[in-house]
Amino acid sequence: MSIYKKITVIGAGNMGSAIAGGLVKNSDSEVCLANRSEGRLANFAANFGEFPNLRLTTNIETAVKGSSLIVLAVKPYAIKQVIEIIKPYLAEDSVIVSVAAGIGISDLREMIGPASIGLVYMIPNTAIQVGKGMTFATSSGIDNDKLDAIHHLFAPITRLEFIDESKMGAATALCSCGIAYVYKFIAAAAQAGVELGFSYDEAADYFTTTVSGATALIESSNLTLQQLVNAVTTPGGMTIRGVNELERKGFTGAVIDSIITPLKK
Ligand SMILES: NC(=O)c1ccc[n+]([C@@H]2O[C@H](COP(=O)([O-])OP(=O)(O)OC[C@H]3O[C@@H](n4cnc5c(N)ncnc54)[C@H](OP(=O)(O)O)[C@@H]3O)[C@@H](O)[C@H]2O)c1
Repeated sequence: MSIYKKITVIGAGNMGSAIAGGLVKNSDSEVCLANRSEGRLANFAANFGEFPNLRLTTNIETAVKGSSLIVLAVKPYAIKQVIEIIKPYLAEDSVIVSVAAGIGISDLREMIGPASIGLVYMIPNTAIQVGKGMTFATSSGIDNDKLDAIHHLFAPITRLEFIDESKMGAATALCSCGIAYVYKFIAAAAQAGVELGFSYDEAADYFTTTVSGATALIESSNLTLQQLVNAVTTPGGMTIRGVNELERKGFTGAVIDSIITPLKK
């Protein structure tokens, strides 16, 4: 049994539902999903309603009472308001995990107050919905046992790396924004596939399998990225012509800029 016996997730949107779904399926903690309105709770119930450890409510206050771990998954502009609502119901040693982008530990501490309440600022990417997330986090006022328990709870749905807070923006740009660029790459390949005679859906499907195979190779082989490229680019062959065209069209520079630009004011 986790040291977090009752976990409340506030916000039943994309992120909150993905996290609550992962927790309810993979832990024996009581998981309470709270949302201000009923629509999204009903959607969640349709998928996870059979789990005996799940509670659904529109009453955020009662949800938080007795919870040792509270996940805030509302939009950043709503964080302050939600914290004001839950503050009177927090236990002295509760842990708050916030996934609201851009609201760092010092902002959260200012809103929450007592240093005895543990804080985790966590930025997942959307692949957490399928148990393949890349999530970064930073924390304050939380001991190793409580951090280990968070690792354990989130492990079935995401890789979780605790990093220095100064790197959270960079991590967000690389992996939370970056996932969109992977979709754009696949969509561009699908468009090319149509010109070559496949339907869009066929080409997208085939190329998605190709990307998935490439990531599996990267993860399983000892070769560097350049060695993997070299292994496909026979001198004088077809692939090197395409790789060099990518370079001539500025592919590397465009990807670098796409990751760096979101961090510029
Ligand atoms: N999507 C991503 O890639 C991503 C990545 C990292 C972090 N995040 C963070 O995750 C958080 C949630 O994003 P999302 O994509 O899941 O948004 P979303 O799908 O729009 O869901 C937001 C949820 O918050 C609820 N909510 C909004 N205002 C509220 C309030 N004042 N009190 C109580 N509940 C309120 C909404 O309730 P209703 O159903 O009543 O509207 C909705 O269920 C954001 O802070 C975002 O920065 C998202």
